[in-house]
Formats: sequence, structure tokens, C-alpha cells
Amino acid sequence: MKQKNSTDSHHRLHRRNEKMPDQEITIGNFNLPSRYNSEGKLFSTQDSYNMDGNKMLWHLDRLEDFNNGVRFAPIHIDAGLSKGCNIKCHYCYGVTQGNFYLESAKKYISRKALIDNYLRSAGAVGVRSIAFIGEAEPTLNPHLYEAIVVGKESGIDISVGTNGILFDTGRDGQAALEHLSWLRFNVSAGSDKSYRLIHASKEFNTLVEKIKYCVEYKRKNNLILDIGIQMVLTPKDIAEVVPLAKLGAKLGVDYFQVKHCSDTVENALGFYERLDDYEKFAPLLLEAESYGHDDYKVVVKWDKITNEGHRDYDQCLGAPFLLYTEGTGKVYSCGMFFDGKFEEGYRLGDLNKQTFQEIIESDHYWNVIDKVKNEIDVHKDCYANCRTHSCNNFLWDVKESGVTSGVVKIHSGGFTIDNPPKHMNFV
Ligand SMILES: C[S@@+](CC[C@H](N)C(=O)[O-])C[C@H]1O[C@@H](n2cnc3c(N)ncnc32)[C@H](O)[C@@H]1O
Ligand code: SF4
Ligand code: SF4
Repeated sequence: MKQKNSTDSHHRLHRRNEKMPDQEITIGNFNLPSRYNSEGKLFSTQDSYNMDGNKMLWHLDRLEDFNNGVRFAPIHIDAGLSKGCNIKCHYCYGVTQGNFYLESAKKYISRKALIDNYLRSAGAVGVRSIAFIGEAEPTLNPHLYEAIVVGKESGIDISVGTNGILFDTGRDGQAALEHLSWLRFNVSAGSDKSYRLIHASKEFNTLVEKIKYCVEYKRKNNLILDIGIQMVLTPKDIAEVVPLAKLGAKLGVDYFQVKHCSDTVENALGFYERLDDYEKFAPLLLEAESYGHDDYKVVVKWDKITNEGHRDYDQCLGAPFLLYTEGTGKVYSCGMFFDGKFEEGYRLGDLNKQTFQEIIESDHYWNVIDKVKNEIDVHKDCYANCRTHSCNNFLWDVKESGVTSGVVKIHSGGFTIDNPPKHMNFV
């Protein structure tokens, strides 16, 4: 029998997206004062998290190590905890990274690898934050809740990105909420009807109830936790942006984030070739922003939504600052190495066999980090607007001149060293 691989899987997604019509939108006479920066680009006035940028300015000790050729621990890790998912979002890039939905729902990193080899060890070497997000759905891993508590107790700020449907509302979920810095629900549909189409699931109401539960628990217990919802913007879900902005306000979450859709340069999901469509969505995005207020931020990632996937640099320097671990415990400097032609040559280590500390102290790790810099062609190999992109922009800006006032202006998002954005460890 032919072995399934992720290429078959994303071809299926591509075909689904070809058949799925674009949503029709009416651009009204919505007239808002436009917010342009000195470079003439739109920017968010509600981004208290500097989500559209990076937080490298608050980790200059690691930059110093990098410049001095000293080996150092990454600031942040995007960690997958499973290889499957209970729903199918039409834009999921996880399919290009080995997420096979329900078929692989039982494939996840073991408790021993996760708790002992990974979290305790990452805390000991000074990793500052871990986001349990990855290529698939973290709530499918039964050890998620324990991992949140152990991670935080090991000195690491922890967050979760989830579709939310399976989030535990018992004691485990509550303990997790008490230890999280932020919790983000991925939802790109504002009604049950569109959720069925956009996410191929009938569980919209379950999700809404889970969000309400988390918001209530946070309020009742005065938790220092930010709860957000996030949509991935595509021409197939653009009409949901205003309903979602309203829904977020009604649910009482802290923010609603609208992000770009990443895709491979081969157009695996069918959106890479449509990144220039985004410009015409600006009026609706501005309308969505108008629902934000002091206690509820509507954050549009304008920079990434409008950059059409271009990169102004030629090498990925961000690899040692920001790592990615896939859902069964292998470690990489980029999600695109999880599966396919790069997998073996770019694997940094395996948490099933080594501790995190052993991995980052090995010569192999630093050789691969060098190989990423020297052998990956960021214009041909990389997917648009990856998580490391903004850190790369920063590292290239400081490469020649150091941390000048110009660099601070571009990368601080209006914050200062003493007044950092929220969640500064999530670089
Ligand atoms: C692959 S999901 C895995 C975690 C979890 N299942 C979730 O959906 O939050 C990780 C995050 O990537 C986002 N995402 C998925 N596909 C994307 C794409 N093509 N471009 C940009 N973000 C994407 C999702 O919205 C989610 O926040
Ligand atoms: S919920 Fe997350 S992992 Fe599942 S299909 Fe959607 S984006 Fe992918
Ligand atoms: S996609 Fe390219 S630039 Fe982004 S982390 Fe991967 S190798 Fe680096």
C-alpha cells in the first residue's frame, strides 16, 4: 500500500481550497482616519503586545552572546505537542509539516520526553518562553496541562494556541489557566454556519462556551493571563473579520488578532499566489479595528498582511534565538524542516533520546545552525512570513550598525526598555 505523506495531504487541502469560493464582501463608505507610519505604511494603534514586530530589544544579552560567538540558549520555542487535529481549518499550514488530522491524533510526545527531557532541562538552561502551538492541536496530548504547570515552575513563561474545542474545564484546565501567560483560540469564522465551511467542524458552539468559561475563570480568579482569539485571513474568510471583531468584544476576551496566511513558495495551500489580494481588504480590517477599546484590542498585523511575503535579507540568522519542536519531540530551527527533504539534514536533536541541554550544547546543534544560515535560500526555500521573520529583520538591521536609535525606532513598537510590551519573553 502506498505510504501517505504530507505532500498528498496538502494537495488535498489545495484542491479543497480551489473548490471553496471566495467570500463576497461589500466595502462600504467606512471612513476612518488612516494610521500611516513615517514609511507610509499602515500600522496598528492597538498592538499592546508588539505582535506585528519582535521583542529582541529586550534580550540584548543573547544578542551579545551571538555577536561574541558564545553558545547560548534560545529565547523562545514554538512547541508542537501532537501530530493530529480534531478539525480541519482550510488554511492550516500544519498539513505541510506532517499533521494528518484525526489519522494521527494519537501521535504525540511522551510524558517522559516532554516533562523530564524537555521542560525541566529547557528551564535549567534559561529558555525564557515556550508556546505550545506547533503544527497540530496541543489539546490532543493528555500531558498538556501538566506540561504547562511544570514549564512555568521550571522558570519558563508558557502559552497555548488551540482550536479550544477540547480544552479541559476541570481542575487540570483550571491549573493550566493559573500558570499561563496567554491563551489564544484559533477561530476564523463568526457563526456556526461559516465555522462548518471554514473549519470543517460542527463545534462552533462548544468553542464559544469554552472561551466563555476561560474568560470567566480568569476574571473570577484575577489571573494575569491574556486570552485572545485569532483569525488567519484569506479570501475565503474575509467576510468573517467584522463578525469576529464583534464576537470577541461580546465574549470579553483581551484581544482579537488578524494575521496573514503563510504559505510555501510552491503555493501548497493556494494562498501564496494571492498575497497581493490583501490590499483590497484594508477597509474591512479598519472597520474591524473600530470595535477595539481600552480593554479589548483588535490587532491587525498590517506589516505581514501587506508585505506580500517579501524578505529584505538573504540569510536566516534567527535560528539560534527561536526554536521549533515538532509534535513527537524532534527539535529544529524551523517548522519547514519537520517533514520532507530538509528533515534529516536539519534535525537538531530528539527529545526522546536526549535532554534539551544535551541538544543545545552539542557540536551537531551549532553545525546545523550554521548550515541554516549558509545553505537555506530564504527567497526560494522559505515559507512567507514565518515566525522568525521579524527577528531576522532585527538581526539584519543590527548586523552592521549595532543597536542604534534608528533600530530602536523601527523595532520597539513605541515601547521602551523600562516599559516593555506585554509578554516580552515571547520574542
Ligand atoms: C497550526 S496551528 C496549531 C495550534 C492549534 N491547533 C491552533 O490552531 O491554534 C498554529 C497556529 O497557526 C495558525 N495558522 C494555521 N495555518 C496558518 C497559515 N497558513 N498561516 C498563518 N497562520 C496559520 C493558526 O491560526 C494557529 O494559531
Ligand atoms: S486547529 Fe490548528 S492544527 Fe487544527 S487544522 Fe486548525 S490550524 Fe491546523
Ligand atoms: S522559513 Fe526560512 S527564514 Fe523562516 S525560520 Fe525557516 S529558515 Fe529561517
